[in-house]
Amino acid sequence: MLAVNSFVSEVVVQSPGRINFIGEHLDYNGGHVLPAAMNQKITLKFRKNNSHMCHVTSILLKNDFKIDLNNLVKTDTQWHNFILGVLFHINVLKPNTLKGFDCIIESDLALGAGLSSSAALECGLAKGINELFKIGLTDTELIELSRDTEHTFIGAKCGIMDQFAVIKGKKNHLLFLNCETLAYDLIEVDFKPYIIVLLNSNVSHNLANSAYNRRRDECSIALTIIKKKYPNYKFLSKVPLEILNEFEHVLSDEIYHRALYVIEENKRSINAVAHLKNFDFINFGNCLYQSHYGLQQHYEVSCEELDFLVELTKDLDYVLGSRMMGGGFGGCTINIVHSTHVDQFIEDTKGAYRKTYNKELSAIITTIDDGACIV
Ligand code: GLA
Repeated sequence: MLAVNSFVSEVVVQSPGRINFIGEHLDYNGGHVLPAAMNQKITLKFRKNNSHMCHVTSILLKNDFKIDLNNLVKTDTQWHNFILGVLFHINVLKPNTLKGFDCIIESDLALGAGLSSSAALECGLAKGINELFKIGLTDTELIELSRDTEHTFIGAKCGIMDQFAVIKGKKNHLLFLNCETLAYDLIEVDFKPYIIVLLNSNVSHNLANSAYNRRRDECSIALTIIKKKYPNYKFLSKVPLEILNEFEHVLSDEIYHRALYVIEENKRSINAVAHLKNFDFINFGNCLYQSHYGLQQHYEVSCEELDFLVELTKDLDYVLGSRMMGGGFGGCTINIVHSTHVDQFIEDTKGAYRKTYNKELSAIITTIDDGACIV
């Protein structure tokens, strides 16, 4: 293990996790999403070592490994693959720019909680190496190579939202991102006196990759069938509901419901932003609940524990909105809670969760912060 105390860093990067208010599973369907970078982060410290080896120590995982830059291939250890994948893709984009380095990784961002710690790691690593060796990668290249790492080294066919939020996030702003064009608006928000509380179900979503990829395939099947008659639709989120309904009896029930969710969620996402811009937080919160029900009933990526946590908030007038967040099958719910009731909210939900599932819930109070930056 690299010794933390005597490590003299040449570059330090802080790379945040992401939250998402609405627009789930829309990024790979060309829809609109509303993520932000959070104040829980991964910190990566770098120094050159004048060799062809990279030495990486993760304090959180109490794990350490060495990489030969001449042998960037996938291994059986998942977190090594994040590092290997990023190095591999930098090498593809800018051959012969990588050299040996040492890196220490620390984190106050929960892993496997649907907060995109993987995007935080990939983007933070790519940004740090880019700075250390003055490689000249653009933000778009950093975002895309991190996404490509997921596809090729991890096997998660994710969209672009997480990496985009990690790199482009801005303090006190939401990113309203059009995933078809990658054009985005930065929307300044101040939820005061409400604050953002994440409830981590501690149901690990690590096993979710195969189910995630299946959802992506199901959307692609729906679009392929619709395009036989309407070839101009490039993305499922853009298909009007009336057109989808023409195919209700052609598509399997499951695939019809996936497509229905995508089309409705995209409209919801656009409406939610209109409410936000009008300072109509009540209707913004209602959109979050509707999003959850769509994910639960039509897209089927929620789980019992997440549904339970959302239901608990339904009649609490100090909670504006609540829903599962991220890829699903576990992880966190996002809740907008009045600050005067936060302690009570956390205590009550923890108690109810323990009683029902005999499991612990962790609460994370978060604020909206800047994307990955060199400190
Ligand atoms: C994961 C993926 C993202 C996105 C979300 C769901 O976080 O990495 O690309 O699809 O799930 O919105």
